[in-house]
Amino acid sequence: MVSAQDIERMAAQAEQENSLFAAKGALDTFSSSSKTQAIGREAEAGQLVKALAGGQKQGYVSPFVFVYGRSGSGKSTVVQFVCEHLPRLLAFRLVNLRRVRTVYGCACLILEELGGDPKGGQTIDSIIERIAGGIEALAAAKFFVLVLDEFDVLLHDKRGRASDFVYKLLAVQQKLREEKGCMVCVIAISNNVMAAEEMDDRVRSRIGSCPEVFFDAYQKEEVVAILKDRAARAFVQPVGDEVIEYCAEKSSQEHGDARRAIDLLRMAAEIAGAEGGKNVSKLHIDMAEERLQKDRVERALSQASYHQKVAAGALVRITYLTQDAGESWYSTSTLYRQYCMSIRKTVRPLSYRRVAELFSELESAGLAVSRTGSKGRHGYGREYKLTLPPEVVGSKCLPDWWKILVEQKKKHEERMEKYKEEANKSDMPEPMRRCMRDAEKLDKESWAAFVGL
Ligand SMILES: Nc1ncnc2c1ncn2[C@@H]1O[C@H](COP(=O)(O)OP(=O)(O)O)[C@@H](O)[C@H]1O
Ligand SMILES: [Mg+2]
Repeated sequence: MVSAQDIERMAAQAEQENSLFAAKGALDTFSSSSKTQAIGREAEAGQLVKALAGGQKQGYVSPFVFVYGRSGSGKSTVVQFVCEHLPRLLAFRLVNLRRVRTVYGCACLILEELGGDPKGGQTIDSIIERIAGGIEALAAAKFFVLVLDEFDVLLHDKRGRASDFVYKLLAVQQKLREEKGCMVCVIAISNNVMAAEEMDDRVRSRIGSCPEVFFDAYQKEEVVAILKDRAARAFVQPVGDEVIEYCAEKSSQEHGDARRAIDLLRMAAEIAGAEGGKNVSKLHIDMAEERLQKDRVERALSQASYHQKVAAGALVRITYLTQDAGESWYSTSTLYRQYCMSIRKTVRPLSYRRVAELFSELESAGLAVSRTGSKGRHGYGREYKLTLPPEVVGSKCLPDWWKILVEQKKKHEERMEKYKEEANKSDMPEPMRRCMRDAEKLDKESWAAFVGL
């Protein structure tokens, strides 16, 4: 039951939380307000402009432009900004595919954003045909840009029809160009650098030479510049430079991520406000970080299947067990072994290929980051690193399993401690000492097998 007093109390509390803000919208990372100015990123904006405007007057634009970069590196912001201000580009649409799960859903969403109404039960071909009609209606200006944000989602469609879809989009573009003299460019934004590589040959051969724009993760100084700009507008009282610096540092530990930095600052200010304070301090940033980490794990795992949780558990397990050795990146094959070791005995493990996909989904969910690692003469493969402390992820994702793991590591450490103590005893006879050394060696071997590296 919620009483009227409860609502009043909640409202007062919410007001208190917001007491530090003059314009909280300046710290909103969801709205991509067109008033957002891109700070820095001149080179990337320049490359985009060149790709879009270069041949447009001469009757040619590249059918696709690929934009790659880690999350929070300003891709969506900069692409939108460029499209809004590009001369002669009178119409563009930005479609965020994050909301859909399949290629079909993606086609429907695009049609919707173009003003169409995808009624149920239509074939994908008829939807694509209507997308063409929608573009034609919008592109009276003869030049149209369709931005497909979070393009990676297409690749997660289990039936793998992403290539088919792109192929059909290319056909639409060609038809519009030849029959209506209308130029269409698709900007595909993705976190995954391999997005274009994962298309099949007939698509790759057509998009292979399309321009690509890479957004490197931000340097700390760039995050500071973005934060300062936002903070100047967002707060009643200025926030100290050292707090901004600290916030930028915290959110750039894995890779410079402007979204995380802005969220962190906003949450820290809410905590400070709730405490009745007037200023944001470093301590509030720490508290906000802890809360955001927990939120992030909860959100990422809220709809996860058992196998997704075990995949997360695999990365948690190896990270936790080897963290003292300072390791942090793990290959897909190492992680697959960990996955098999972590799964309940009664459940059959999924195939290597499928689990590899689960790891890339962990990255989309923000729990991991990846890089291309060298496997020596075996070529290249993906390597993953946990973005949050293993304690935070492990305890949320598989609580019982996690408790046992912690217990096992603790026991192992206690035993190692014991060996050390014994070895320091000067009065131990040599045969005993030898025995101890053998036992220690065996123990270490069985631990290594348990860790499974
Ligand atoms: N160069 C920038 N200038 C101003 N704000 C930025 C910049 N880069 C990122 N941001 C802000 O950070 C947040 C995340 O940026 P976004 O463009 O959505 O990243 P991405 O699409 O690469 O994940 C947004 O709120 C955005 O406004
Ligand atoms: Mg984005």
